[in-house]
Amino acid sequence: MSDLSRRRFLGVTTAGLAAGALNRNLPGSAWDSENSTPTPAAKGFLAIASANGIGTVAKARKLMMEQNMRPVSAAVQGVALVEADPNDISVGYGGLPNELGVVQLDSACMDGPTHNAGSVGAIEDIMHPAQVAELVMDRTDHINLVGAGARQFALDYGFQAENLLTERTRKIWLKWRSQRSNDDRLWPLQDTNPADPALADEPRPWGTIHCSALNDQADLGCTTTTSGLAFKIPGRIGDSPLIGCGLYCDNGVGSAGATGRGEAAIMSGGSWLVVERMRGGDTPEEACLYALRRVAEQSERAARWQPALWKDGAPGFGLTFYALRKDGLFGSASMLGKPGSRKFAVANADGVRLETCAIAFPTN
Ligand code: GLY
Repeated sequence: MSDLSRRRFLGVTTAGLAAGALNRNLPGSAWDSENSTPTPAAKGFLAIASANGIGTVAKARKLMMEQNMRPVSAAVQGVALVEADPNDISVGYGGLPNELGVVQLDSACMDGPTHNAGSVGAIEDIMHPAQVAELVMDRTDHINLVGAGARQFALDYGFQAENLLTERTRKIWLKWRSQRSNDDRLWPLQDTNPADPALADEPRPWGTIHCSALNDQADLGCTTTTSGLAFKIPGRIGDSPLIGCGLYCDNGVGSAGATGRGEAAIMSGGSWLVVERMRGGDTPEEACLYALRRVAEQSERAARWQPALWKDGAPGFGLTFYALRKDGLFGSASMLGKPGSRKFAVANADGVRLETCAIAFPTN
């Protein structure tokens, strides 16, 4: 029996233990296996993100290095660049709206050292939901705030209410609305004449940005932020504000996140699964591929009620996982795509760049 199990068995609380003793007995990777070896700590500062996060990883790393900012805050500040960018139609200001033309944003963050998290779902009028999620984490004993409550919480803390719909996204929404069918709440058909070139691949893109960060003390933190599924039913939340789904970190092991079809990341507990696979010894890329394979199995079954989820022997949707291990190893894998076509952003001592994702179901 581990020391921790013995303390619980004896009914002894850990509150009075010296921090050093507590730390010795609570390495993340020793929790469920007395024989496992804790992952060695990283040296240096590192951030990874989805491909839209080149600026994000550079900023997150700089903040950790130059201001000693904790990784979760550095990640939250890093994604603020994308939340404020009207040209990214999957996140924050200029994100695609719900079916009523209202932008509803989802975000969460998680702090490795305290194993604490916060999130907001379907929040309106607030450009930086990741910062609100960080306040939920730091200033409350709750994890999830949604809708009007999340908005009011943000206003209470001084955030400004602003219109997040841009002319570009209003026009895309109007075009979608003019073409929608009455039962358009199932999987959409491919739009052969999209209102905007950005919609050519996905008529209802999920977009999103995830960022995981690691500092020179081997502490981890992460955030995911999104406008979610385009033209969603009002109130729909995806995986991004759900801990274990769109993001997860365990300071003893690593950090992970997801972009793409949120429903699939939710139904698989995807980001939690990636971290647990790393705990078991997978490299980050192997862990991401494993989670995608699990999603694929689940999607084949789910296609019994939603045929579009499984097409030509592969899932019919995009999903990407990103993973960063405590020792600084990182990787990513995407469900679909031509080999070499999917990228993710990295900033470490070797520079700021895009790296290539592995592909679970390569296409030609
Ligand atoms: N992954 C973003 C969403 O599904 O909302």
